[in-house]
Amino acid sequence: MKNICILGVFVADLAFFGDEIPVSGETVIGKEYIIGPGGKGSNQAVAAAKAGIKTYFISKIGDDQFGQMAKEIYNKSGVDYSRVITSKEHSTGAAGIIVNNRGQNAISVVTGAGGAITKEDFNNSMDIVSNSSVFLTNLEIPVEVVYYSLKKARENNVTTILNPAPASEFSQENFHLVDFFTPNETETAFFVKQKVESKDDAKQAAEKLLDMGIKNVVITLGEKGAYYANSNEHFHVDAINLGDKVIDTTGAGDAFNAGFAVALTEGKSIKESIIFANATAGLSTTKIGTAKSMPLRSEIDDLL
Ligand code: RIB
Repeated sequence: MKNICILGVFVADLAFFGDEIPVSGETVIGKEYIIGPGGKGSNQAVAAAKAGIKTYFISKIGDDQFGQMAKEIYNKSGVDYSRVITSKEHSTGAAGIIVNNRGQNAISVVTGAGGAITKEDFNNSMDIVSNSSVFLTNLEIPVEVVYYSLKKARENNVTTILNPAPASEFSQENFHLVDFFTPNETETAFFVKQKVESKDDAKQAAEKLLDMGIKNVVITLGEKGAYYANSNEHFHVDAINLGDKVIDTTGAGDAFNAGFAVALTEGKSIKESIIFANATAGLSTTKIGTAKSMPLRSEIDDLL
């Protein structure tokens, strides 16, 4: 079986837990805080490796304490970080995360060294990209590098997944480089310019995205599951109901994308892959943190 290759950033997550997420100008008293490994691409790499597939992560970190934190989580979870460059010029980034008592969050991320990755850096890892079954990336790195990496992966017949997070400009003329587009509700709303709150909204939005040139769209809807569409079929997959076990949804989208990539690599059908991804994401919400909340393969298998 081939491997998965993920391009993205590592940052240290500074997460604050309290009753509510403060509004602009407001101060709230929180209950606890944690500092731990984060960054969408890095979380995805940790989740994919823990779900049992050889995973390479391409990124850049600083030669500092947060960079050290990255190496610790990769050693622990089995991510191959031989393509993570340690930069002497840039510091590792950080994210400020506020989580309320319903497990919902708001995030501001400063991508630091990871956000300074270049096309040349990516080119130096083309040997592992071309040998992968799936290439997964997101929008925390410069969009020019995203376009370039997707193009290179496609040229080598590697299946591409773009998790368009955080929602930001991605030109429609590059949609053909994406095999699977995996936005959440907010990101979908950004691209189709209409609200996405229900399954019906997701259906309409998916049709719009297909019209815009996306081949396969998987809209993640949190506790409402996920909606899939391509030109031949549309279907909805329920989320796994974990009830009051849900304590922190931060990183659930990363877990979903990793689970989806793992299942596709294992040759599962698209529907089976979404079910596997839902289980991976669901389990990640039952623990505090992002990278550290990613489930082991045995836990995913037990849930399914
Ligand atoms: O998806 C969650 C991640 O987004 C966090 O770990 C934070 O670092 C931001 O990148």
